[in-house]
Amino acid sequence: MCNTLNFYVGMIYMTKIRQIYLKKAGNKPVWDHCIQNGRANALKHDEVRIKVHYSGLNFADVMMKLGLYPDAPSTPYIPGYEVSGVVTEIGAGIEDLGIGQKICAGLAFGGYQSEVVLPRWQVVALPSHLSMKEGAGLIVSFITAYASFHQMARVKPSDRVFIDCATGALGHLSLALLKSHGVEKIYGATRSPEKLKFLRDQGIAAFTHQQLREMKNPPLFDLILNSRGGQSLREDYQRLSPMGRMVCIGASSFIAQGRKKIFSWNFLKNLWAMRGFSPVSLMNDNRAVMGLNALRLFDAPELLQESLKFLEQDQGVNMIPHIDKVFAADELELALDYLGQGHSRGKVLLKW
Ligand SMILES: NC(=O)c1ccc[n+]([C@@H]2O[C@H](COP(=O)([O-])OP(=O)(O)OC[C@H]3O[C@@H](n4cnc5c(N)ncnc54)[C@H](OP(=O)(O)O)[C@@H]3O)[C@@H](O)[C@H]2O)c1
Repeated sequence: MCNTLNFYVGMIYMTKIRQIYLKKAGNKPVWDHCIQNGRANALKHDEVRIKVHYSGLNFADVMMKLGLYPDAPSTPYIPGYEVSGVVTEIGAGIEDLGIGQKICAGLAFGGYQSEVVLPRWQVVALPSHLSMKEGAGLIVSFITAYASFHQMARVKPSDRVFIDCATGALGHLSLALLKSHGVEKIYGATRSPEKLKFLRDQGIAAFTHQQLREMKNPPLFDLILNSRGGQSLREDYQRLSPMGRMVCIGASSFIAQGRKKIFSWNFLKNLWAMRGFSPVSLMNDNRAVMGLNALRLFDAPELLQESLKFLEQDQGVNMIPHIDKVFAADELELALDYLGQGHSRGKVLLKW
């Protein structure tokens, strides 16, 4: 772990690795920005050393810093799911990547640092149509969208698809993926009326959650991507057409203005609404409810690789993350507040 002595020793060495540890989660999280000695441990034959240029932030990082993320390791640990950068060293068994190659990569934690060592299969050559910034915003949103729409819900071009987090990084790549599959009836929602134009400019039907709730004849959807969880699960379930499918991917409704309020009535109502769906109701309603945790896909490399192969196909060139804002690495707290308070439209990055 980082301490003052380590900090100064690290400064003396030419190669320094900057790292950000989450030491304590909560409404007032404690972070440790430190500089480690860049000792170059020998790589395994299938490993790649990467000088990180950008780290992508995800909404899960906000849940994590608040202590609302069940899959998080015990503190202290380095969060971060995705990076872009340049290969600086390769293991003896790697033939298809070279030193200096631009890459992007997904990780199960550990992305908030200026250098990472990863197994080859987690690393993707940066697609030539993407900048280094865009590369850092590609992997998590793309694999989540691909797994939700193709691997789980088997989307069809004729489906009416509703995305409840359409303004975010995942929403943006979901729209691109659906359009590339020929889906035309796409509906997106936001909490903020100010973000409606951003959605309409992308050619989809857009409304606020409130507007949808107040519609006299609300549309039914064949496929719903629900990231808010809580009470919205029950509302969205009622919006499914017969044979409709809902993929549950998050619980952002537990956060209000970037904070968790455990003792609020709303928090308790959301918690109660997270209970399971009855098989009898599902049978009688002819509906399906599924769940996805992209992080767990790192335990199933063949599924991840299937989605990453899509990026190499012709349609892959349409997968361009929308980069909203870049913060310096030492502005992490500001960046996470920006995300958690719902200001972002697309991806937020840290620059190393
Ligand atoms: N299960 C998985 O594997 C997985 C993977 C990736 C993402 N996700 C989930 O998918 C959602 C979108 O992810 P993202 O990467 O696109 O995140 P993002 O870029 O930070 O966008 C967050 C989105 O959530 C919406 N939102 C709804 N309630 C919110 C709240 N209380 N606080 C802040 N934002 C809220 C925001 O929309 P408005 O401000 O327009 O309402 C925005 O579209 C998140 O809930 C995330 O946890 C799940």
